[in-house]
Amino acid sequence: MTPRLLAAALIILAWAIMTLWITRRAYKQPVHPSDGRAPDASAIAVIYASQTGTAHDLAQRTASSFGDQARLVPASTLDPSNLVQYRTALFIVSTYGEGDAPDMAQTFLEKMAALPLESRPLQGLETAVLGLGDRSYDNYCGFGRHVEQWLHAAGARSLFPMVEVDRGDAQALEIWRNRLDEVFDIKLNIDMDYPSWRLAHREVSNPGSLGRPCHELHLTPLDQPMPFWSAGDIAEVCIGDTDLRRDYSVASIPQEGVVRLLIREHYLPDGEPGRGSQWLTQTIQPGSVVKLRLRSNPSFHVDCERPAVFIGNGTGIAGLRALLKQRIEAGRRDNWLLYGERQRHCDLHFADDLLNWKKDDWLARIDLAFSRDQATKRYVHHLMRENAQEMRNWVAKGAVIYVCGSRTGMAADTDLALLEILGTMGYADLSARNGLKRDVY
Ligand SMILES: Cc1cc2nc3c(=O)[nH]c(=O)nc-3n(C[C@H](O)[C@H](O)[C@H](O)COP(=O)(O)OP(=O)(O)OC[C@H]3O[C@@H](n4cnc5c(N)ncnc54)[C@H](O)[C@@H]3O)c2cc1C
Ligand SMILES: Cc1cc2nc3c(=O)[nH]c(=O)nc-3n(C[C@H](O)[C@H](O)[C@H](O)COP(=O)(O)O)c2cc1C
Repeated sequence: MTPRLLAAALIILAWAIMTLWITRRAYKQPVHPSDGRAPDASAIAVIYASQTGTAHDLAQRTASSFGDQARLVPASTLDPSNLVQYRTALFIVSTYGEGDAPDMAQTFLEKMAALPLESRPLQGLETAVLGLGDRSYDNYCGFGRHVEQWLHAAGARSLFPMVEVDRGDAQALEIWRNRLDEVFDIKLNIDMDYPSWRLAHREVSNPGSLGRPCHELHLTPLDQPMPFWSAGDIAEVCIGDTDLRRDYSVASIPQEGVVRLLIREHYLPDGEPGRGSQWLTQTIQPGSVVKLRLRSNPSFHVDCERPAVFIGNGTGIAGLRALLKQRIEAGRRDNWLLYGERQRHCDLHFADDLLNWKKDDWLARIDLAFSRDQATKRYVHHLMRENAQEMRNWVAKGAVIYVCGSRTGMAADTDLALLEILGTMGYADLSARNGLKRDVY
């Protein structure tokens, strides 16, 4: 190598290292104050159960505010009979499905049910519960309420009544902050920062579709370097100047230099447009400023060590695209995508990427179902059943299955298909090895 070439290579290397350092520094992930430390009779356990990252984020911030006193404990690792090893247990839990526990808390829930309560096994433990939920669901804060009742029945002493947070309501979070301040004399740092982004580009992704329009948005950071995020993370967007926020799966990875979202226009039963989707897809125009924060969503992060099966429909392709892109960057070719929409000629979002990835063998398989392209409706769960043996082969090779898209319909149907294909034991094994990850809404 000539000296000039060597100098050029060194400059490029220094630039790459600096870019990586800046992006990682900009991604201010709160520290895990207590990971891996043993329970302690004087310690405060901050226990979280989260599906899409909000409870996890709040738990990290709460634990950080206590400093050395706190242990951050994911519900997935918690045995309820060990709770008495702590002085205090603060539960920060969301509700998922139809009033259910988040996926990561399923085993904890089973252990809760198995613990005999007659002897009041949690006597002496002080507790408080922060329940996250959404009032538009029938079973508002169902899991949080269940945890609170169970703690009471097990003899724990409640420090104050459960605080319930409807869709991130700032006033309810203020109550949580004040209660902890009164009891522990700490200043809780849970203020969320929403940096400014510019809407750089927006286009309809499915012109001519029988379905509602979907818009692809590109956002670039204003007054800040490009932050770091992982595929599977969520963009939490402030809707105008209101106190309203909406979540969207990020479709891109940081190396692409842009946050890409795929947003479907939403209409309420009375025909009124949804406030969030209307603002993002119609009210604002390219060039407008959008306040947005990227929320880590560890339950949907991608595994680059094992084969991967991606299953989704509609805007669910956004989250799946980011996961695929990250795996491709990591050199993985053992990717299988099963995807459903309405019409082939207009509803294959990110078509260029998907077809090129297939052509270049980055997708080992792609199976598509378009429900309106033939007389009989075809959905993604039909593709799964038609390829049942192949699905079993992938799972036997250790594949992780990622499901992204509609909660109603697709999520339940694919779950049922998976149960049929793998059998009860196979399905349980897959869940036990954390091989089924969902981002459905
Ligand atoms: C983790 C996650 C990822 C997501 N990713 C995407 C994505 O990639 N793309 C995408 O298009 N969407 C995504 N969504 C959905 C998105 O966050 C919004 O829910 C969607 O855009 C509709 O919001 P809206 O404000 O337009 O409608 P809203 O005005 O919120 O109406 C939506 C629904 O909320 C209920 N609702 C609203 N107000 C009331 C009320 N007063 N009383 C009773 N019920 C009410 C109704 O059931 C209504 O159908 C995601 C959601 C989550 C949780
Ligand atoms: C698929 C789905 C199902 C949900 N089901 C409920 C529910 O039954 N009851 C409720 O109060 N909230 C429900 N929610 C709202 C969440 O609990 C709320 O958005 C919470 O802030 C999410 O926290 P997390 O990000 O930690 O999971 C649901 C949200 C989603 C995406």
